[in-house]
Amino acid sequence: VRKVRTHHLREMKQRGDKITMLTSYDMYSAQIFDEAGVDLLLVGDSASNNVLGNETSLPVTVDELLPLTRAVSRSAKRAMVVGDLPFGSYQASPEQGYLTAVRFMKEAGAHCVKLEGGAEMAPVIKKLTEGGVPVIAHIGFTPQSEHVLGGYRVQGRGETSDRIIADAKAVQEAGAFAVVMEMVPGDVAAQITKELDIPTIGIGAGPDCDGQVLVWQDAFGMRDGKMARFVKQYADLKSVLSEGAEAYVSDVKGSTFPAPEHTF
Ligand code: KIV
Ligand code: NA
Repeated sequence: VRKVRTHHLREMKQRGDKITMLTSYDMYSAQIFDEAGVDLLLVGDSASNNVLGNETSLPVTVDELLPLTRAVSRSAKRAMVVGDLPFGSYQASPEQGYLTAVRFMKEAGAHCVKLEGGAEMAPVIKKLTEGGVPVIAHIGFTPQSEHVLGGYRVQGRGETSDRIIADAKAVQEAGAFAVVMEMVPGDVAAQITKELDIPTIGIGAGPDCDGQVLVWQDAFGMRDGKMARFVKQYADLKSVLSEGAEAYVSDVKGSTFPAPEHTF
């Protein structure tokens, strides 16, 4: 199989062929999504609150994300594997960011990294790109800055759209090969997508981005409870697993499993 490369994504944008991205944090999900044709597998810092049991993405560390990233990069044959730089691992300086990004590539086999921030992150993006690390920028609502932004809120409404547009242009200028836009009004995301040469990947950014990303546990129904408006649920895995687990408990309690055919 031909591996997805940064230039393929650029060509997809030019052709109007939509780019697909899902999170993945382990072997089986990586294999399944890779075989389904997902172009980019993001080992998101969302592992913090979707795998490791934290409430937000803030507590997760580089040392926790590296083994998950390794599992995904070992398992994907075609997809580009994206290491997500966690909170505090790149904001201090371009040097800090570079050393962290290199760990994701050398120790965990990531093909590129993603980091949160717009114009203010331009020096970090430039340093990484010049040092051989392809970068996806993440603008709009950036969860690592939740406490600065005042909670989960759409970014770039009304007059503040200028800032988001400037961020998008700044990260492209700094060398990012793609940009994730989270919770940005659809018309602003559409304008940015039109004005940028690099692909835009939306999450809560409307239908006009060059690609889309979702957290897989949201997309495939691993949990219930309140889902963000931008989530579409494609499967109901929680029910499937609950029914399986309940049937197993009931079989063992009722002595119907193991049966003779399971016995040596
Ligand atoms: O960590 C993550 O899952 C993300 C996506 C939501 C873009 O950053
Ligand atoms: Na993230």
